[in-house]
Formats: sequence, structure tokens, C-alpha cells
Amino acid sequence: MSGSEKDEKAPSTWDKYGVKIVLAICVVLLCIGLIVVIVFETQRPGPEPKPWQKFRLPDTLIPVHYDVEVRGDLSTFALTGRVDISVRCATPTKYVILHSSEQEIDRSSPPTVQGSGDTPSVTSWFLYPENEFLVLELSESLREGAVYTVTINFRGTIRTVLNGFYRSSYVNEQGQRRYLGITDFQPQDARKAYPCFDEPSFKATFTVTVVHQQEYTALSNMPLESSESRGGGWVADRFQKMIRMPTYLLAFGICDFDSINATTSTGIATGIWARPEYIAAGMGDFALDVANRVVVYFEDYFGVPFPLPKIDHIALPDFNSGAMENWGLITYRETRLLYDTNSPSATVRKATARIIAHELAHMWFGNLVTMAWWDGTWLNEGFASYIQYKGLDFVDPAMNVMEHFAYDRSQAVMVDDALTSSNPVYRPVNTAEDVTQIFGSIIYSKGASILRMLENFIGEDTFKKALKNYLSKNAYGNAVQDQLWAELTTAAREDGQTDLDVKAVMDTWTIQMGYPVVTMTRDYTRGTAEVTQRHFLVDSASVVTVTSELGYRWYIPLTYLTQANLANTPVLTWMAPNEGTKTITLQGAAASQFVLANINHAGFYRVNYDPTNWQLLANHLNSDTFQDIPADNRGTLVDDAFNLARAGMLDLTTAMSMTQYLVKDRHFIPWSMALRATGYIETVVGSVPEISNLWQPYMRQLITPFYEEVGWTLLPGDYNTEVGQVMAISTACEYGNSGCVNNATMMFDQWINTNNNSHIPERLESTVYCTAIQHGGSREWDFAWQQYLTAEASEQTLLLPALGCTQDTDTLNTYMERSKDDSLIRRQNAPLVVRYVGRNSVGKSLAWNFLRDNWDFYFENYDGTSFTMTGVVEDVTRQFSTQEDLDQLETFLAAHPNQGTATQAFSQAVEGTRANIRWRRDNEAELRTWLTQAQG
Ligand SMILES: *[C@@H]1O[C@H](CO)[C@@H](O)[C@H](O)[C@H]1NC(C)=O
Ligand SMILES: *[C@@H]1O[C@H](CO)[C@@H](O)[C@H](O)[C@H]1NC(C)=O
Ligand SMILES: *[C@@H]1O[C@H](CO)[C@@H](O)[C@H](O)[C@H]1NC(C)=O
Ligand SMILES: [Zn+2]
Repeated sequence: MSGSEKDEKAPSTWDKYGVKIVLAICVVLLCIGLIVVIVFETQRPGPEPKPWQKFRLPDTLIPVHYDVEVRGDLSTFALTGRVDISVRCATPTKYVILHSSEQEIDRSSPPTVQGSGDTPSVTSWFLYPENEFLVLELSESLREGAVYTVTINFRGTIRTVLNGFYRSSYVNEQGQRRYLGITDFQPQDARKAYPCFDEPSFKATFTVTVVHQQEYTALSNMPLESSESRGGGWVADRFQKMIRMPTYLLAFGICDFDSINATTSTGIATGIWARPEYIAAGMGDFALDVANRVVVYFEDYFGVPFPLPKIDHIALPDFNSGAMENWGLITYRETRLLYDTNSPSATVRKATARIIAHELAHMWFGNLVTMAWWDGTWLNEGFASYIQYKGLDFVDPAMNVMEHFAYDRSQAVMVDDALTSSNPVYRPVNTAEDVTQIFGSIIYSKGASILRMLENFIGEDTFKKALKNYLSKNAYGNAVQDQLWAELTTAAREDGQTDLDVKAVMDTWTIQMGYPVVTMTRDYTRGTAEVTQRHFLVDSASVVTVTSELGYRWYIPLTYLTQANLANTPVLTWMAPNEGTKTITLQGAAASQFVLANINHAGFYRVNYDPTNWQLLANHLNSDTFQDIPADNRGTLVDDAFNLARAGMLDLTTAMSMTQYLVKDRHFIPWSMALRATGYIETVVGSVPEISNLWQPYMRQLITPFYEEVGWTLLPGDYNTEVGQVMAISTACEYGNSGCVNNATMMFDQWINTNNNSHIPERLESTVYCTAIQHGGSREWDFAWQQYLTAEASEQTLLLPALGCTQDTDTLNTYMERSKDDSLIRRQNAPLVVRYVGRNSVGKSLAWNFLRDNWDFYFENYDGTSFTMTGVVEDVTRQFSTQEDLDQLETFLAAHPNQGTATQAFSQAVEGTRANIRWRRDNEAELRTWLTQAQG
């Protein structure tokens, strides 16, 4: 690393050979001395690691305030900066240790430390790249309680990699390429933009000055305070002082965007920023309305006012994740924030409102109260991922979004969490790689699901009261999960739930991985049921090697209703970890009527029943009154049945029999959940012709009545109607309904002939594109590719997966090759291409060979983003189901011992492949028989 005055010191000769030298002297001198010295030398413990050799910052110095000035040049991409950090000395120390990475520390005006009175001088400084530290050595110790100013001048570039302070660009309406610079820091990249104490508990205040060319606008967390000319066409914008927050929430940007704004009823200025032509086209209007309303809703919900005068939301052409909750300046991918009201789509509307609500929830959960360390990230992300549904429900109550929760959040993560290679939501974080790897579906979706479960058993009002107390007590500070559990327990006791210990309950869900399956065995003569719990593992042959002190037993809030009481409030029964089989009295259950457990799928567990109860449930689904089982529970019944069958706990015949009723269901939630549950079968045996020749017609006959009922004429109505129609059409086309395929192909053909696609409704575009390309040839594919090259981002988002629908393997290979060229496909999108190919039933070995051959490309470009790597590995190995697949995977892993942020995904792939092999051995024949009979 350049700019280093001094490398990490190797142990000196004396340290290494000290014992021998001492011995030699002693032999010549005194024998008694010799023994004394040997005893002393051998008993001395190894040298203490130097403070900069530890991964965590020492707590000797506490940053209080940062004055950051950065100068970003959008023609040369040069970055220069200076930071003055006020630090309070908590423990006397001769070292100032802070984070710095990807920067050159100025040698001509080197780092200084100043205080009132006699200040020690900086005798030397050096970088310690292993921990991304900058270390200043002082002539003498800093005094406890005194405040000093650490000044560092640095240089760098506006980066091409999408973190730290990086560049992005777009082509404007005049055909000019315009650049912008923007920050993205979470979790460990603030240090790439400015030297800082880059850990979440080191909160401080900030004053930011951005120096930029005058044709651009600068933005930061706070409103502009003053602006002054620096001559030569340069302007220095100084922003108001920012309240206490962690380093990773700082943000600044330089761009030529336009904005629209509004002010909330509580006086907060909301701004939406995007390319001028997008703003002019009204594409920020929807976001402005949602953002402006949701922030007020959250102020009320949390009972704590939003503390900043403004919140800007900015849409970026290049952005690594979906969005980032910088306090007062939230950053998004363009496609996640902007919404084209000219071609309305319920799905995009929901996704946009959802992500805005997510980021706004973080303004309280994460920003106002921050996790003490990254091991608590789950609470931050789990909360935002749960509370966003409340914001969404407020924006659009007719959507009935809580009914979507099981499908949106729980269903998929329950598959991941049923592997022995899963992780607890709370897990220790000790290395930089641990920090990166923590951001996965477990903390987001399982985190959200268990918080929903918690609210369900503790009650809405008690939950809200405890949140308010937690947020106000810890405002501007940091907290750990036990503090939240304590608030919840207190609130519960106040509200009359005297024997509830929230920490005891929630520890079983947070500090061990996995979740239970509850087996309910009814006694039909007595009207009782025996319930037991056990750790649910999708591969019953797998062995859990990580021990849990809680023994993989849970406190389970078991809810249930009987057939006669479906409209009532569910009955709640607790199952404790140390209870064996428990007998419960089922209130009002006749022997001829079913019992349904885990109402609305509010609990993060699966339920298995005795064969008679499964039969009663299937009978009811097949009756005319099936809709008195809630939509999310209809989906859960199919999902549980298929997963239990995968785990060998239920026969596949029973699971298949739960799907037959779908021929009558017109609700997109059970349908979507069923398609995802059965998607497993398709993934594993979809490329086996003897199965898919039976499977395709079976699914086609289930969807056809729904498809024929909705047709292609756009249905007016609410979210659920619109999404249901789109789902029915796309499913019918996917399973080869010939009318559907013809219709899609004709529409695509008309696009080719007229070079105008305005006749294809936006919400049906992805189906039309994919179907036409799947059933078409090079004419369709080449046309779509040409369109992709010039399309806008939102259209590219639709074309990218569609291009992966072709059944032609040569074309798929060409497509993947092209994805490596970032003049054709943006670097942030390239990994999607291999993922789409991996999901294609003809793409299994193509995607795998490509990933294997291009491993270095992926590793170099994406290893820093565990989300990306995890997704790639998941999709590329998804269809692995033979011994040969497993051998190839293991050979690859042996040859690449360092898999970086993909490590976890690869272990899951190995485990998943083994499970798939076993599933095929045990179930393939049975499935074939069942499908053959169903056809008969
Ligand atoms: C808000 O928008 C108006 C134009 O509608 C503009 O005059 C004003 O400067 C904007 N305010 C801010 C703070 O950007
Ligand atoms: C698609 O099918 C519908 C029937 O659902 C029909 O009315 C419509 O004309 C068809 N559109 C095209 C482009 O073929
Ligand atoms: C595309 O066709 C529509 C009518 O179907 C028309 O209004 C529009 O102007 C056409 N667009 C172009 C670019 O030709
Ligand atoms: Zn988040």
C-alpha cells in the first residue's frame, strides 16, 4: 500500500532469538542466573498483539465530531480530502488508530494531533492494511479526558467499484455521457472515502463540505448551510451539522440531477432526485407521495419524531444493492425508486412503496438506535423488513399486504433455514468477511418473520409500546437485542402477561439456527391432540454438526382453529423446549372436522398432521367452501406438505393431493406459494423428459380455468386482481397453454414488425418476451438483444431475464460470454445472466461450466458483495441432482479452497445436491405413478 511510512514491524532479531542469546551469555557467566533466566523466558507468554493487530478498534479514543471536506473532480475523477476529527481520550494511549483504505495519506502535510496546551507530536505513522488501519504513533501519551483534533489530508479517486465514494454515469437526452459521484458505505466502506473510526458504536456528529465543479449540485445528509466560490469554476458547499450517527450512514453526492419536493404535515422536506428527463416525465411522483406520507406514519407509529429537517431520496444508474438508508439522503437503484405512471404496474408499485418504507423504517431502527456491533445487524434488517409492511399497509390498505407476508418473506427462507449449513439470525462477527457475509436472507426474512411472530403473541399495542420505550431510551446510542427483549417483557407484564419472558422465548429463535416442525396427532374419540416438536431438516439424512446449547428446541406459540370456528380468534398454546409430548384439548373439534394450525402462518414453524386430518383438510380444499381457510394458510398447507414430503415425513401422494384444489382457486397468494413449493420438483426433475412430459400437462390443466377466466384484456381493479391475472397468464404460458403461447408470440411478432411495443401492456411484458423467446428462434432473440442495448433501465430489467429463456444452448453460451463485457451489460447486472441461465431447464451444465471457467472474473468483481455471490451459486447449482453433479461440485471446491463470500452458498449447494439425489431416489417413481393416474 502506498503512503506507508513504515510497514508492519517484523519481530526483531532480539525477540526471535532472545532466548538463545540469553542462554549463550548465561553459559559463559553464571549457572544460577542461567536457570533463573530460562524459567523466566519459557514462562513468559507470547508477545501481546499490538493494538493495530486486533480486528476491532481499541476504545482508548472516542470520536466526537468529524469535519469532512472532500473535493471531487468529475472530469478526472480525482478525489482530495481533509478530515478533522475531534476525539476524546478515554484511556491514555500513544497511538491513534482509525480506519483508512484505498487512500493515499498526504506526505507533504502529514497527519497531526492537536490539543489545548502541550500536545504530543506524531513521531511516525503507517498503514496496517490487514485491518485497514491508519496508525499514528505519538511522542507521549494522550491525557485521559482531554479532547484532541486529529487532522488527516488524503487523496484518492472517485472509484469505479460501487462502494466508498464511486462514480456512475448515464447518457442524457442530448446524447452526452454525464457523470456523478455518490457514496455507499455499509458496512465497511466509509473508510474508503475518508479516514474514520469505522465501527457502528463510534457515533459522532459530522459537518460535511463538498467541493465540486459549479455545473453540478452537491447533496449530503443535511440541508445546505452555505456555499462559496473557490475560484476556477469550483464551489464549496457546506452542509449543516449532522446529529450523532455512525460513520456508515454518512452520505454525499455530486450530480446534475433534477428534483421534486414536498413537505410533510410535520414539516419535513422530502426530495426525490433523478436524471432530469426522468423527473420531467413524472417518474418520481409516486415515490414522493409515498415517502412523504410514510415518514409521518412512522413518526406516529414509533412515537418519536423524525429528527432531521429533510430526507432526500436519490435514484442512481449504478448501485450495488436495492437501496441504502443513509440518514437524510437515501440512495436507490433507479428501478427501485422510480415509477412510470404512464404504464402502471401493481407489482412495481408495491415494490417501490415497500423499499421506501423499508429505508424509512431504518431512520428509527438502525439510524436513531444502532446495533452495538455488526452481530446485531439482524435486528436492524429484520425490523425494517417487518415494519415496512405496516408502512405499505398504511399507503395501500386495499392491498391487504399482511396476507402476502408468508409468501413474500417466510416461505423462501424456511427452505434455506432447513439446511444444517444455515446460520442463526444472531451470530458472532469477528472478521471483515464475517461482516460481509451476515447480509443474507436469514437476517432479513427470518428476522422479519420472527418479529411478526413476536408481535402476534405479545399483542399489537404491547409491541408498539415497548418499541417506543426502546427507541426513546436508546436514541442516538447503540443497543443490543437483550435491551429490546427487556422492554418487551416489561411492557407485557404491565399489560397483564405476567409469566411471559421474552428473552427466554426469543433466544430460542435467534441464537440457534433452524426452526421446528410441530406434529399434531389427534385422538378423534377424545377430542384431544398430542403435539410434539422437532428440528425440521429438509434432508432427514443430514447431520447437525453445530451444537446448540438450547438443543434445537423452541418456545413455540402454537395457534390453531377448528373447522367450526374458523372465523374466531385463534387459540394460542405454548410449547416449551423441555416439554416432551403435550396433550391439548381441541376446543369444539368434531371427529369429522379438520383442525388447522399456525393461523395466517404467523409462526415460523411447519405443521404436520396425522393422515386423517390431512385428508380432512384436502377434502375441505376440494369443497366449495375452501375459501374459509385464509389465503395464506391455503398456500402454507401446500408448502408444508411438499417440504414435509421432501424431508420424508409425509408421502408425496398426500402432498400432490393438496394441489388438486388449485383448479378452483383464483387468489394469487396460494397459487404463488404452491408454484414455489412445487417448483422444487420442477427444478430437480424438470429436465427429465419422462417426468416433465407428465408434469407440464398436469400443471397446465390446473391453471387453464384461471387463465381462461381472466384472459388478456387488462382487468381493472385492485392489486390482487391485477397480480392474479398476470400470474395466471404467465403460468399458463410457462406450462405451454397453446393459446397463451400463440398470443404472446403474436404480440412479440408485432413488435418486431412495427418496431413499436406499445400494444404490450407493461405488466405482461416479461411474460410475452420470455414466452416468445422460449418458443422462438434467433430472429426473436437477436431482436430482443438489440433492444436491450438501447433500452432504458426499467426495460432492460425485463429483457435481461427474457434473453435467458431461449432453449438454444449456443445462444445461451453467447449470452453469458457477452455478459462479461461491461460496454454491453452493466457490471451490476452481469451476474444475473448466469443466474437466469442456471434457472433455465436446458441451462444447468452451461451455467455451471461458465461459472467454473470464469471463476476469477466473478471473484475479482463481486466477492465484496455476498448477496451477488450467494445468488449466483444458488442459481447455478439449483438443478444439481445426480452423483456426477456432486462430484463436479466437490472437485471444484477442492481446487478453490478460498470461496470468499460464496463459502456459505457453496456449503448449502453441497447439502442441497445431496438432498436432491436422495429425493430422486425415493420419490421419482412415486411421482410418475401419481401423475400418470391423475392424467387418467
Ligand atoms: C422545491 O421545489 C420548488 C419547485 O417546485 C423549488 O422552487 C424549490 O427550490 C425546491 N426546494 C428545495 C428545497 O429543493
Ligand atoms: C389474446 O387472447 C385474447 C383472448 O383471451 C384475445 O381476445 C386477444 O385478441 C388475443 N390477442 C392477440 C394479440 O392475439
Ligand atoms: C407506437 O404505437 C402507438 C399506437 O399503438 C402510437 O401512439 C405511438 O406513437 C407509436 N410510437 C412510435 C415511437 O412510433
Ligand atoms: Zn435494510
